[in-house]
Amino acid sequence: MQNRVGVVHGVNLGMLGRRDPEHYGDLTLDGLEREVGGFARDLGLEARFFQTDDEAEMIGHLHRLPELADAVLINAGAWTHYSWALRDALEIAAVPAVEVHLSDVMSREEWRHRSVFEGLVLEAVSGRGVEGYRDGLERLRQVLDG
Ligand code: DQA
Repeated sequence: MQNRVGVVHGVNLGMLGRRDPEHYGDLTLDGLEREVGGFARDLGLEARFFQTDDEAEMIGHLHRLPELADAVLINAGAWTHYSWALRDALEIAAVPAVEVHLSDVMSREEWRHRSVFEGLVLEAVSGRGVEGYRDGLERLRQVLDG
């Protein structure tokens, strides 16, 4: 059964708890991972977490992803808006992907409106806080169930 989901956090997500609570809430990354791990278990999924602030490390992780996970839920942070290298790496990974953002990127600065993952991901969930991770996992559950 395909049930392993990589939950991948990019640049500055390790700073949750110190970032603007109006956009990101007050959970730390550990707290968010506990919540998301619970959502995954409820759906019969196994969440495999990864965070880095190093773009090269993130690309290496995406290259290895097909060995580690059947699908991926990615919050790439600011890389979302400009890292074409990350888009290429996600395309190479070739596993079903959902993009997630805690904040409502479309109602923030214009530079946050573009996502390099457009057209590659099944869905982009934004502005639903930690609940958005549940939405993303539900979507991936459906896809893995075929
Ligand atoms: C974010 C939104 C991005 O614009 C920002 O750079 C982040 C976090 C979010 O989760 O809302 O670091 O991806």
